[in-house]
Amino acid sequence: MSNQNSPVAARVSISQLAAWKKRGEKWVMLTSYESMTADIFDKAGIPVLLVGDSAGNNFLGEENTIPVTVDEMIPLARAVVRGSERALVVVDFPFGSYESGPEAALATGIRFFKESKVQAVKLEGGSKILPQVRALIAAGIPVMGHLGLTPQSVHALGGFKVQGRGADGERIKAEARALAAAGVFALVLELVPAELAQEITAELAIPIIGIGAGPQCDAQVLVWTDLMGMTAGAPKLAKAYRNLREEMTGAIHEWSADVAAGLFPDSEQTFH
Ligand code: KIV
Repeated sequence: MSNQNSPVAARVSISQLAAWKKRGEKWVMLTSYESMTADIFDKAGIPVLLVGDSAGNNFLGEENTIPVTVDEMIPLARAVVRGSERALVVVDFPFGSYESGPEAALATGIRFFKESKVQAVKLEGGSKILPQVRALIAAGIPVMGHLGLTPQSVHALGGFKVQGRGADGERIKAEARALAAAGVFALVLELVPAELAQEITAELAIPIIGIGAGPQCDAQVLVWTDLMGMTAGAPKLAKAYRNLREEMTGAIHEWSADVAAGLFPDSEQTFH
């Protein structure tokens, strides 16, 4: 039956991610903050796009993620959903939009689902936010967890430092178990010792997504501007696979020089 409203292609589902974990298939998640990169990353086969609150420092010009608001994130998330067809789109709950309790978290989740049409949300934290996680899941909103270095708590953590070294590793393991028991469909581990991430990955049935957490995780996530060499002073946990900053600067210099020399526009870009 033809239906003009039917979706072009089904998006990756959280059950597919669970199946990949069972089969031992590794995958990647990449941030995106607008429709053009969403389109490129989606067509390149990225299965999960994260509209991270890293938009704060990588898109909105803030010092870190803390000032980012729900009102700022909704249009970014909507653009990523519009720009992609196949990827599962996950949005970060900004600082201040869920800490006060399940009602606040539910209100934020409902806004993201209705206004940006993402398929899942991500919250930073462990045992303190379990009631929020349960309320969201009960309402039909899939939740991704985030432990280790949680950037929204950077001041409480005393800076961007490795978390879970020594005895603190047991605390992170307990938080990971609690989040998995509450029903998160996947968990980001950021800046933790590789051995700890390996143990959690082996123990839990949900996919573990690492960033600065060693190679044994089920998946890896990066901020796209770090991957592409756009970020000045990218963190040590990232690797630049291209230098788009240099490429773009080179293109600008060439174009400016062509304009100065009267070579642009030439006959192909000129109309009569
Ligand atoms: O906001 C973000 O980009 C993130 C990833 C680094 C996991 O939370």
